[in-house]
Amino acid sequence: MKICVLPGDGIGPEIMEQALRVLDALRGDGFDFEAETALIGGCAVDATGTPYPEATSKLAKAADAILLGAVGGPQWDNLPREQRPERGLLAIRKELNLFANLRPAILYPELANASTLKPEVVAGLDILIVRELTGDIYFGQPRGIREEGGERVGFNTMVYSESEIRRIGKVAFEAARKRGKKLCSVDKMNVLECTQLWRDVMIELSADYPDVELSHMLVDNAAMQLVRAPKQFDVMVTGNMFGDILSDEASMLTGSIGMLPSASLDANNKGLYEPSHGSAPDIAGKGLANPLATILSAAMMLRYTFNLEAQAVRIENAVKKVLAAGYRTGDIYEAGTRRVGTREMGDAVIAAL
Ligand code: IPM
Ligand code: MG
Repeated sequence: MKICVLPGDGIGPEIMEQALRVLDALRGDGFDFEAETALIGGCAVDATGTPYPEATSKLAKAADAILLGAVGGPQWDNLPREQRPERGLLAIRKELNLFANLRPAILYPELANASTLKPEVVAGLDILIVRELTGDIYFGQPRGIREEGGERVGFNTMVYSESEIRRIGKVAFEAARKRGKKLCSVDKMNVLECTQLWRDVMIELSADYPDVELSHMLVDNAAMQLVRAPKQFDVMVTGNMFGDILSDEASMLTGSIGMLPSASLDANNKGLYEPSHGSAPDIAGKGLANPLATILSAAMMLRYTFNLEAQAVRIENAVKKVLAAGYRTGDIYEAGTRRVGTREMGDAVIAAL
């Protein structure tokens, strides 16, 4: 199995090191892999002038799966748009057709106090957000800033074709079928035609999934319901822009964005796996970052790309064990638990494996 490793910027390299150690510890358990590392994001800009160099693209295309740390940092914020680290991320998603972004928001019982919401509102939370990742206003044309009537006018285009909606819908219905069999599709059909089509296609698709209960919610209401009563949701499916916003909101229900993995898949389950959090430049290089989201992303990789469910569960159970034993990095620390650094957290997971 060929894995393309993209540590990226900030805490990326530190957390990636721990995820690779965990994968190493699994070698032999029906699993072996070859890892090759390449540059993406700010470090790639510094070395080559572009956030997604040709060599990285080649390696990513040849690999079965891609494991990514994080990209970005303040030193690259003032570069022209094409050279910003985020561009690297958007480019690899688009080039590899990684249209299905799975973002679970799970609250581990040991971390119930880490949430800013009341424990009874979030205890037992287990939501999967399925976000479309290669379309919508993120990529729609035309886009830009132009002069019009003596002033500047900014414009972007929200656009979805029927086939784009149908393929992400299928992923979401299939995911719901394997879980609580409830799917909530989020749109803004009261204002936007593009999302009226979204709703129509979801309703058409639902005929193929009589066992899944489909509901619809407007995005503003969904944002409210997520903090009011988040446990009403099982799987949510939405477009790129709404999904970007709602997935950040959902992650904070768990109180610890440092715990959440994600997968971005193409039609053949080739995938890019990355933690949901960013590059945390403020703690980079200090050995303080929480590696669990990256370790859990590696588990998602075993599950979705390599079909190694048992090995994925082994990693997830090891993480649960480590939390139950009281190990905490700074982001999830509370009095009475045991504060550890990035590497010690990796050690604890490997020991628990
Ligand atoms: C995400 C991020 C990216 C996005 C940025 C970094 C381009 O916020 O993965 O959610 O907007 O998709
Ligand atoms: Mg985001």
